[in-house]
Amino acid sequence: ELLNEIHGYEGDFTVPAEKLQAVTKHFISELDKGLSKKGGNIPMIPGWVMEFPTGKEAGDFLAIDLGGTNLRVILVKLGGDRTFDSTQSKYKLPDEYRTTKNRDDLFNFIAVSLDNFIKEQFPNGVSKPLPLGFTFSYPASQDKINEGILQRWTKGFDIPNVEGHDVVGLLQEKITAMSIPVDVVALINDTTGTLIASLYTDGETKMGVIFGTGVNGAYYDVCSDIEKLQGKLPADIPNDSPMAINCEYGSFDNEHVALPRTRFDIQIDDESPRPGQQAFEKMSSGYYLGELLRLALLETHKKGLIFKNEDISKLEKPYIMDTSYPSRIEDDPFENLENTDEIFVKELGINTTVPERKLIRRLSELIGTRSARIASCGVAAICQKRGYKTGHIAADGSVYNRYPGFKEAAAEGLRAIYGWPKGDAKSYPIQYVSAEDGSGAGAAIIAALTQKRLAEGK
Ligand code: BG6
Ligand code: GLC
Repeated sequence: ELLNEIHGYEGDFTVPAEKLQAVTKHFISELDKGLSKKGGNIPMIPGWVMEFPTGKEAGDFLAIDLGGTNLRVILVKLGGDRTFDSTQSKYKLPDEYRTTKNRDDLFNFIAVSLDNFIKEQFPNGVSKPLPLGFTFSYPASQDKINEGILQRWTKGFDIPNVEGHDVVGLLQEKITAMSIPVDVVALINDTTGTLIASLYTDGETKMGVIFGTGVNGAYYDVCSDIEKLQGKLPADIPNDSPMAINCEYGSFDNEHVALPRTRFDIQIDDESPRPGQQAFEKMSSGYYLGELLRLALLETHKKGLIFKNEDISKLEKPYIMDTSYPSRIEDDPFENLENTDEIFVKELGINTTVPERKLIRRLSELIGTRSARIASCGVAAICQKRGYKTGHIAADGSVYNRYPGFKEAAAEGLRAIYGWPKGDAKSYPIQYVSAEDGSGAGAAIIAALTQKRLAEGK
């Protein structure tokens, strides 16, 4: 019976090459819509980085990275010779701040962490305010580089009075109130940071992508191809300038016409704080992988097939399984999955049999592989849209770096979409490579580019 179950789930979660290709095709037209005057589901946000880094940018810069789980404060020393050094501190964002009712909790937390970091790094104080790049990994509209109006929270964040507001202003207010010697000069998406940091060291970089709590990508377009920029471009900027675009393509297919959604994807969306949003992200990013596994296990339990006579009250709690669950389960080296056994007993209070654990493992593999394959459609869509035939896709994020087999499955997904002959992933014309530290180095380089432009009076 369990074998039948597994076959059923294989049908649900396997996405064949033809489907990936169809999704990619639709993706390209949605990217174009996002650049049009009328706009579409995918925000395609101009990031106001309008040059390519030369590798010669130099100096000391601060960066703050508000990602999915941690806040990092980073001091980056750009060497001016395509190298950089960085020192950083990580501060765990208290869980309740993700959904606090008071936005001051979040911005005070950032300012206090920054203050502590500066006091540690510069015990004798600083002679002039330090320039800071703020990596804010949520969709924020920008009419210039030092502003970011939050369109909507993603990745389970839900704090009132931030959507529709400029987060640079909100942060600078706290910084100024606390007399911290810092100027926020640029707001950067983590994907844009990844793109620029990787380009600083590797000229073959075509995109910066994150496979983490969320999923998203950035690339350079050309101003004249961005219809919605018409009339918005400052007079001194030539029409053929490059422009970094933060796609925010986690929102691809919010109208649910292309992606092969399962009943679990539908449930996740229905029960999320923002139903109908981030359709692509909800099927492929780290925030949801453990939840998909949990929902599938609950379904099998309800059919009376697993965890008979076990207390499943813990498993009934939404989001109790974060991505580390499927990740650790896939990593279990033992034939009878003893590590998985321990995870279920110790963390969920459930005793499992060997066949049950094999089902759990197979489900994890299916969910992880589907995520990597689907996530690759965004990459293929950008490359096909811009006509890139070769190049490096700089990838970062906890799922890319830590989820077992993800890198391989993502490369295989890209291969399947393009139909390249199977081989060593390093032989594929378009390859994923591990990114440089986007939110540190990328933010610093962008801050440096911004300062240079300001100094030139632009
Ligand atoms: C980090 C990058 O490695 O990955 C950040 O430096 C990025 O810029 C983060 O936001 C994304 O991963 P996760 O898993 O924290 O969402
Ligand atoms: C979410 C955010 C986006 C970010 C991505 C990866 O999709 O909206 O801004 O780049 O997660 O962190």
